[in-house]
Amino acid sequence: MAGEARDLRKIKVQIKDVEKVYEGRNGRTVALNGVNLDIYDNEFICVVGPSGCGKSTLLNIIAGLHEPTAGEVLVDGVKVEGTGVDRGVVFQQYALFPWLTVKKNVEFGLRIKKLPKEEQEAVAMKYIKMVGLEKFVNAYPKELSGGMKQRVAIARAYAVNPSILLMDEPFGALDAQTRTQLQTELLRTWEEEQKTCFFITHDVEEAILLASRVVVMSARPGRIKEVIDINIPYPRNQETKMLPEFTELKNYIWGMVYKEYLEVQK
Ligand SMILES: Nc1ncnc2c1ncn2[C@@H]1O[C@H](COP(=O)(O)OP(=O)(O)OP(=O)(O)O)[C@@H](O)[C@H]1O
Ligand SMILES: [Mg+2]
Repeated sequence: MAGEARDLRKIKVQIKDVEKVYEGRNGRTVALNGVNLDIYDNEFICVVGPSGCGKSTLLNIIAGLHEPTAGEVLVDGVKVEGTGVDRGVVFQQYALFPWLTVKKNVEFGLRIKKLPKEEQEAVAMKYIKMVGLEKFVNAYPKELSGGMKQRVAIARAYAVNPSILLMDEPFGALDAQTRTQLQTELLRTWEEEQKTCFFITHDVEEAILLASRVVVMSARPGRIKEVIDINIPYPRNQETKMLPEFTELKNYIWGMVYKEYLEVQK
């Protein structure tokens, strides 16, 4: 964060010995096995790893949407048991309500929080402006591009002011240019409003650009293979990608992910 030291000592999320086994029609799948990670307050964690290694499973467990088979997740020292307004989630497929306008979509979470009407409107407008959609407040999702829909999803997550943002490949379905734009916006937003971010991506460059630490997961059963500090100071922007240390990190992390990918192919 620009000119301001982040308190990296306070632990926000503790993932302790988390295991997840799915019993499906195709038998038993050990999706996660022995996952341990401490996430600091206001940290930006990016998770990379081959398809099927359990990234979404882990995010859903932190969100309280799935229960671990063993182990636990603590947020501010309290065991996660179900979803909560302290954790906002953004998925790859813009989970907007098609029958609601942009404004009503962003206000949705605020209604659950039971804020007075005027306050709901003011908060919704603040975040709609933040993502640059003030001209589209009354548009419906079907009238928006993919990038715009994802901006609405981000505004909606921010509006309820969660202390943790959980994002599962939020830019995965977007074209390269829109993706670049949204990365820059997300970085700026994160620098403005302190939040702890847990962001899943397949894109190693995206992970390094955003993260203070990148978590590399191994092929199934999913475990944490390595956690890499990204010691490139914020604020960052697209030019950060041209730094020699960026390229070095990219080669290192990409090599590791590729090795795991080959494991999946075996
Ligand atoms: N509801 C479920 N029932 C049975 N198996 C599941 C379920 N959800 C996930 N799995 C299995 O658990 C493993 C991990 O899935 P998960 O979606 O967490 O992986 P991922 O790392 O997010 O993959 P991707 O990168 O493709 O999104 C996979 O083998 C998947 O098939
Ligand atoms: Mg996934």
